[in-house]
Amino acid sequence: MTQQIITYDIKPTKLVPNSPKPLLLYKGYFLRDGKVDSTLAFNTFKENGWDTQWVATYGHYQRSHYHVDTHEVMIVLSGPGKIRWGTADFGDDAHNHTYGTASEDGALYSDANVGDVFLVPAGVAHKSYNPTATNSDAIGLAGGQTMLSEDTRKSIGELEVSGFTMMGAYPRHLVCGWSEGGDHVGQFESVWNVPIPELDPCLGRDGGINDYWKCY
Ligand SMILES: [Fe+2]
Repeated sequence: MTQQIITYDIKPTKLVPNSPKPLLLYKGYFLRDGKVDSTLAFNTFKENGWDTQWVATYGHYQRSHYHVDTHEVMIVLSGPGKIRWGTADFGDDAHNHTYGTASEDGALYSDANVGDVFLVPAGVAHKSYNPTATNSDAIGLAGGQTMLSEDTRKSIGELEVSGFTMMGAYPRHLVCGWSEGGDHVGQFESVWNVPIPELDPCLGRDGGINDYWKCY
């Protein structure tokens, strides 16, 4: 079966580099019987040179951010949730920058449904949140800044996930930092030049970044 990929072009704003490379969405790539096979996702990412670094359940708020040193792949293990793409947040009032007016215009809004895999180019701002969450901020279920060990593979499959939960991976040896709108004004070009990994995290040598990123 050929994987259908949805692409989104997210242009730079005044404050956020975003990327000439499209954001890619693979619908349900690791779904088996209506559930995500997170062990299969973990193993596939790993075989393709992408290492899983975290599993997190999102709260009512998250601040918009982007990564300048790495691309990122995120898979929705449990949902639905919301992701806002491409724009900066203003100020420290989390409610206002998430549900009010304290953010740049022109965002793309997505529903994040179970099984969605988002491949996010370096520079593309994202903000993941769950309007029905009872916690305000994301809760790390595994990982965080520390790369998950191989032994964790088993526990990934056994993690109890609920609410809006995603698992995230990065090309091997790359560690993600956290940047916010305005941090790289005048330096967008360098963010856009983060090297393209050799293999697509889901599809390896066929499709995905091979079709949509390597032409840039
Ligand atoms: Fe991120």
